[in-house]
Amino acid sequence: MTLLITGQTLAFVDDPFIVAPEDVVRHRSDGAVVVEDGRIVDVGAAADLSTRYPDAMRADHGEALILPGFVDAHVHYPQTAIIASWGKRLIDWLQTYTFPEEARFGDPEHAARIANTYLDLALANGTTSACSFCTIHPESVDAIFAAAADRGMAIWAGKTCMDRNAPEDLRDTAQGAYDDSKALLDRWHGQGRASYVITPRFTPTSTPDQLAALGGLWTERPDCLMQTHLSEQVDEIAWVRDLHPEARDYLDTYEAHGLLRERSLFGHAIHLADRERDRLAEVGAALVHCPTSNTFIGSGLFDMGLARRLRVGLATDTGGGSSFSMLRTMAAAYEVAQLRGQALHSSQLLWLATAGSARALHADGIGRLEVGAMADLVVLDLHSTFAIAQRTARADTLWEAVFPTIMMGDDRAVAQTYVAGRPMKTGRP
Ligand code: GUN
Ligand code: ZN
Repeated sequence: MTLLITGQTLAFVDDPFIVAPEDVVRHRSDGAVVVEDGRIVDVGAAADLSTRYPDAMRADHGEALILPGFVDAHVHYPQTAIIASWGKRLIDWLQTYTFPEEARFGDPEHAARIANTYLDLALANGTTSACSFCTIHPESVDAIFAAAADRGMAIWAGKTCMDRNAPEDLRDTAQGAYDDSKALLDRWHGQGRASYVITPRFTPTSTPDQLAALGGLWTERPDCLMQTHLSEQVDEIAWVRDLHPEARDYLDTYEAHGLLRERSLFGHAIHLADRERDRLAEVGAALVHCPTSNTFIGSGLFDMGLARRLRVGLATDTGGGSSFSMLRTMAAAYEVAQLRGQALHSSQLLWLATAGSARALHADGIGRLEVGAMADLVVLDLHSTFAIAQRTARADTLWEAVFPTIMMGDDRAVAQTYVAGRPMKTGRP
């Protein structure tokens, strides 16, 4: 079956943090995307492609904007039900809200229920792929990969390993973390669109033995990604210093155990020392900016200047982050950058939420509107509310028309979400 999707199309041809933001896009106001077997087989002018694919089924989105689906590069799907929990900072937020909820994920039914809820919310918000932390329980990993497979989604996920400074029922051991992670990796990595990610939660909750065991697993399976947290809050950094007086800095606690190289993803990475920045850039690691979380939990202001030197992805950090929406996340990234004296261009924000996050995940087949990429798409209505529409009516350029939706849009702006060419937005989740 051939599907012809029409609307305005926006494709990135380069990195807007390196090349002038307005020069990196190909925009067509009467554009079309042709999909066969879940992949994009053609992109061009609607009139031309209509002639060339006369028998295609058609999905007409009028003036709505067709983009690659959003890629959320750091989430904790098990925290879906505790999003927007009041009044704490990182360490007491984890202890008060997160750990009690995560303790429930040994129950496969609970895990499946939340995994399905999370993915429905993601799709409603135009997010077609995510990279998720799970919990200590293998059942939590099975649940998210199974729910993603049901929807045909590309998902990255891993068992969140902890063997110290966590409640008894959320602790494993160095060997147990290795064994469970390896078994899950063998079960899921490369099955359909599933990718396993080696996942120590962060240095305070993993002993050196556990970090080393996971570093060892990564050496055996270097094709995997490794995700963790780095320098999110000042108190956390002081704690790491107490736990590891021998380390040069926080990053060093990962590197000393084989957990720093090109396919590593570090969430938050706000309060970095110069040595850490240089070393991250040297090895080609990726940072993930989680702006709604960083303001909600009071962590700090990420330095977006790093996007010129490093792979940087964008993420909701559900449920430390306060929204499932990558539009809201782009708005927060804009506001955080403003507080640091930088105005991010809409092109940079949209790129971060699509190709930038995909690049952080080393995922070549998503985040792009081009021939050969998977047909994971989001269609944005640029007039989704009265407030947005009355502002967009004044717009003279594409960027002026898009920015109000970035700043004020939510799931109502998502007219459709396609996963491998299949429309997924059928109503409220
Ligand atoms: N650092 C360690 N674990 C977590 C978590 O679950 N959320 C956030 N925001 N930071 C963390
Ligand atoms: Zn996180």
